[in-house]
Amino acid sequence: MAFEFILSSIEGAVGVITLNRPKVLNALSPELIGELGAALGEFEANPEVGAAVLTGGPRVFAAGADIGDMVERSPVDQLTRDQTGRWAPLTSFSKPLLAAVNGYALGGGCEIALMCDLIIAGDSARFGQPEINLGVIPGAGGTQRWPRTAGKYVAMEVNLTGAPISAQRAFQLGLVNKVVPAEVTIEVAKRLARRIAEKPPLALRLAKEAVNAALETPLQQGLAAERRSFYFLFATEDQKEGMRAFLEKRRGRFKGR
Ligand code: CAA
Repeated sequence: MAFEFILSSIEGAVGVITLNRPKVLNALSPELIGELGAALGEFEANPEVGAAVLTGGPRVFAAGADIGDMVERSPVDQLTRDQTGRWAPLTSFSKPLLAAVNGYALGGGCEIALMCDLIIAGDSARFGQPEINLGVIPGAGGTQRWPRTAGKYVAMEVNLTGAPISAQRAFQLGLVNKVVPAEVTIEVAKRLARRIAEKPPLALRLAKEAVNAALETPLQQGLAAERRSFYFLFATEDQKEGMRAFLEKRRGRFKGR
């Protein structure tokens, strides 16, 4: 599928999406979000894709939702076109999704990074929720995912001041997995995605689901769900292959069955 506001490619087992509105710092217009959802849908349906990387390229991740598109909207417009509800393909994507962040990840840009499963940040990365400066608040998870990741006080700071935090501070807070020189961010993320994509796909899917469930359920319920998935995986060929390969001292060859 040809896209106008993103670039999408498949490199081996890794799907790569690059946000591509450089003149407006990858501002997230509805059209761009639509294309992002469509590209993720293609990766979801393609069994060759084991993991995906989402990046904004070398200079900027995304400076947020498109302010020009929103400025004159009414609440009814927002509700009927469900502006941020349309970002759901990012959270329903069942395969590992890595963000490779250089430069600004602000507003909705920060929120889509926080929807990813792992975040590799270049040393130029800045994460923030400046919506307060526009007379609004985040609408795609900024007030909800920050406290769950960085705690209440940091969440208050970024949401009430609108000031971004550095890659290094984000790393100290556990918000990003790794900080690397900006020129290698995307390559490091792709390398990690390639490593993850070699793992058994069904186990990856259920591991992702289980970790996400931990953020939404009481412990006993989460443990029960984890246990069910653990037992279920004994129905897969990949479990037999993985355990036999270990015992036979060779690498497992996984099929996603
Ligand atoms: N929407 C639309 N256009 C944007 C934009 C955005 N979010 N961010 C930047 N742009 C445009 C600018 O208007 C500018 O366009 P022109 O060249 O036509 O003037 C171009 O991108 C370059 O931007 P700047 O000249 O401002 O670049 P800078 O380097 O001086 O500053 C910046 C960079 C600090 C990121 C600044 O652009 C900025 O503050 N952007 C807005 C950030 C923001 O408020 N994001 C939150 C949006 S609301 C949201 O996301 C809601 C939600 O939760 C869903």
